[in-house]
Amino acid sequence: MNADSRTRLNQTPEWTALAKHREELGEVRLRELFAAEPGRGSGYTLEVGDLYVDYSKHLVTDETLRLLRELAAARDVFGLRDAMFRGEKINTTENRAVLHTALRAPRDAVVEVDGENVVPKVHAVLDKMSAFSDRVRSGEWTGHTGKRIKNVVNIGIGGSDLGPAMAYEALRAYTDRGLTVRFVSNVDGADLHEAVRDLDAAETLFVIASKTFTTIETITNATSARGWLLDELKAGQEAVAKHFVALSTNAEKVEEFGIDTANMFEFWDWVGGRYSYDSAIGLSLMIAIGPDRFREMLDGFHTVDEHFRTAPAESNVPLLLGLLGIWYDNFHDAQSHAVLPYAHYLSRFTAYLQQLDMESNGKSVDRDGKEVDWQTGPVVWGTPGTNGQHAYYQLIHQGTKLIPADFVGFARPVDELSGDLKAQHDLLMANFFAQTQALAFGKTPDEVRAEGVPEELVAHKTFKGNHPTTTILGGQLTPSVLGQLVALYEHKVFVQGAVWNIDSFDQWGVELGKVLAKRVEPALTEGAEVPGLDESTKTLVAKYRELRGH
Ligand code: F6P
Repeated sequence: MNADSRTRLNQTPEWTALAKHREELGEVRLRELFAAEPGRGSGYTLEVGDLYVDYSKHLVTDETLRLLRELAAARDVFGLRDAMFRGEKINTTENRAVLHTALRAPRDAVVEVDGENVVPKVHAVLDKMSAFSDRVRSGEWTGHTGKRIKNVVNIGIGGSDLGPAMAYEALRAYTDRGLTVRFVSNVDGADLHEAVRDLDAAETLFVIASKTFTTIETITNATSARGWLLDELKAGQEAVAKHFVALSTNAEKVEEFGIDTANMFEFWDWVGGRYSYDSAIGLSLMIAIGPDRFREMLDGFHTVDEHFRTAPAESNVPLLLGLLGIWYDNFHDAQSHAVLPYAHYLSRFTAYLQQLDMESNGKSVDRDGKEVDWQTGPVVWGTPGTNGQHAYYQLIHQGTKLIPADFVGFARPVDELSGDLKAQHDLLMANFFAQTQALAFGKTPDEVRAEGVPEELVAHKTFKGNHPTTTILGGQLTPSVLGQLVALYEHKVFVQGAVWNIDSFDQWGVELGKVLAKRVEPALTEGAEVPGLDESTKTLVAKYRELRGH
């Protein structure tokens, strides 16, 4: 559909029908919905790959879901999905295809961009990554002095950091424990300092990850890392080749930096940064878990891609999750969305999703450049569940805000855990189930009174409940299951962007800050007069220089 010819989202009959339905439902109670529908807990569930998804604890009826699906149909979400999978340039502001799904396509698949099948290129890079990872893992690849590589330091930021860093944590139990793998992203020198201070440079490989190879934080850290390495080894430029590899789309800049392009692992402009950790950007992860596990992860992604591409609307999980988000975002004024993993290994998962979701759907103009007058992407937040229970869950349970949440957990701990630590898993998951129950059904004043609570405390101990949650339950956190989970959220974000008619694949909003930082820097270092600095910033810079001792 031509974007210009679209009716504004909130003027469509489907939107109006949802608004009316919301009014009619009023303050629908989950207790009532469950009482009215005895099979709701088993009926409002779907499966995709190894994931079991329970959406029964949502403030929705069959009618709500039907109307939401009608909205998706009217916005041609599946049409845009097919255009994405076909390699059409749906990232219109950058005139690019959006083909992270091609990164996990099987070898014999055909996905064309500008008439060229990109799948052979994808697999050629995967093969090159695999061969390199094997050489590092086996000790065949040695550093400049001939020592085996024992440390891998990934230097990148945003999508060139969060994905591999998250996945490395998630899959720690599958990593080669003889390797130390660290991730440096912050341009604060403390980050690199802490990452290398106890490492032997002769045993350290730096993986410089940057799609553009121009990102100032990454290039600055990479330059400092090169300085550190050469100082430590008391070697010249010739040592770089054995200790630096690059992951990028920009061979010219990689060469300019001094990295041999033979040691560059390529990807392409049709892979968005925040959708890139299953491309060459995943090299540090592949070194850590090995090529076979990495490919298992890609298969997990592909399973969900196929589901999203082919499952009918009624059983399409990413579609459902996207639409539920729209229900709260647009029809309940929810401002945020919590993702709460009950898995220690998923400690970086929500941080990863923040970029995926907020950089994709944090937009306020539609595809035609017109200001939207509907809410777009929510604030995504959260940390592993049990820790959150003793910190911010109070606000979710008894605060004044509606915070829809995803609970992600697994039936079995990773195989490495045994004895008491394995047994603890049931307690972890008891919390997982208890929390969604408490959030949904709460505790009425009468139930509180029945416990003998004095009247003056009844209001304090009452839980209103009715806090919506999705439960995503997997068998075990494996590489494949991680891939499935990530793909699920990628496509959920896609669905929402399609309904809101925004370009989920550009990120112009990060540009202004970058440009201003470049402009302000000489004011800090040299006290240079910077034209256009506002009075507040000028005063702050002067104060900074005074405190800094410049
Ligand atoms: O934050 C903006 C951004 O462009 C992200 O989209 C991207 O993931 C990150 O910077 C890093 O970019 P690059 O991989 O080009 O260094």
